Amino acid sequence: MTNKRTRQRPPSAKSAGMAEGPARVSDKPEGRDVYLQLQRRLLESSLEPLKEMVRAGETDGDTATALLVNDWKTRRGDSRTASFRKFVENSGPIFENEPYFDAGYDLLMDRSYMIAKASSNAQLFFKIYQHLSGEPYDSPKQLLKIMREIAKGKRFLELGCGPGFCLGVLRELGAEVAGVEMRLEFANAVPEAGVRCGDAEFLGDLFGDSRFDVIYSHDFFCESVVLERLKSLSVAAAAFRHMEDGGLGIHQINCWKMPLPVFLFDMWVTLSQRGDDFEQFQNTFWNLPPEEMEDSFYTNRFSLDPQDLLRLGVEIKELSLENDVFTLVARKPLSKGRGEQPD
Ligand SMILES: C[S@@+](CC[C@H](N)C(=O)[O-])C[C@H]1O[C@@H](n2cnc3c(N)ncnc32)[C@H](O)[C@@H]1O
Repeated sequence: MTNKRTRQRPPSAKSAGMAEGPARVSDKPEGRDVYLQLQRRLLESSLEPLKEMVRAGETDGDTATALLVNDWKTRRGDSRTASFRKFVENSGPIFENEPYFDAGYDLLMDRSYMIAKASSNAQLFFKIYQHLSGEPYDSPKQLLKIMREIAKGKRFLELGCGPGFCLGVLRELGAEVAGVEMRLEFANAVPEAGVRCGDAEFLGDLFGDSRFDVIYSHDFFCESVVLERLKSLSVAAAAFRHMEDGGLGIHQINCWKMPLPVFLFDMWVTLSQRGDDFEQFQNTFWNLPPEEMEDSFYTNRFSLDPQDLLRLGVEIKELSLENDVFTLVARKPLSKGRGEQPD
């Protein structure tokens, strides 16, 4: 998915050292200043043609940002593990297109979820395959058949599912699916996905005492969703209550730092659509101390503490950072954990 969230706070003039501080002895840039100016000029010139197309209405900002993101991912594609690449290459009809959501969260532009062609997130399905088949991924030709065997008749619940792209894929594979999404416009975006609108902390209100074989999430237990640790723990406890004994929790977040051109272009799109001054933002940005500048790029942080899960009685099966994706896989023990029942 393109990471269009309203995450960046424009740096303050004070933190940028613009409002106060000693006057410069010389206006001639030196050292790091020269390097930053060079970088700035380079970026400005290389992004200008894209901006021109957006200004002229030949394309929209989201499409241009998606192009930059995909271009960047393609160029560093070798960071993906060989088995993951094999999985994607052999996915065939499981994925219509690109394995990533190509959908933007456009809160500022009053356009809700942009539904593009991509059907799902390959890394999530890769983990479902690994943990439910109990076999290493070594039979690409059998992928679809095995995925169907894995999914058939299993009950999947997605937390914070947006419009429910992943659910759609799982349903096609024969699974029984349910999703919970807090935002009404996302929950209603794809009526046939059957997404329920509500808070994942109160699963009982939506699903009674139903239990699920797999409860999963993508980009949900993370700071960008503002799911703080205590809220995350409450949601995890609710999920634990609604999980079958022996059931699995698979939770992933995309964990990558935006490259500078993507970050700046994304800001340009966002600010210019809002009618805010991008130049002013840029001037402040380039004067930030290096750490603060780096902090402004997008990084996602997992908000669920594995220690809390252990205390809930969950077994941790995997904690990994692969292919830019952080994954936690947890299992509810077969014997009833601490006598908890669905709420
Ligand atoms: C970053 S989006 C990820 C959506 C989707 N899983 C994806 O990967 O494209 C996080 C989603 O979680 C939803 N959300 C946040 N808090 C929630 C809560 N307490 N209960 C249900 N959904 C929630 C948000 O509305 C948003 O759609």
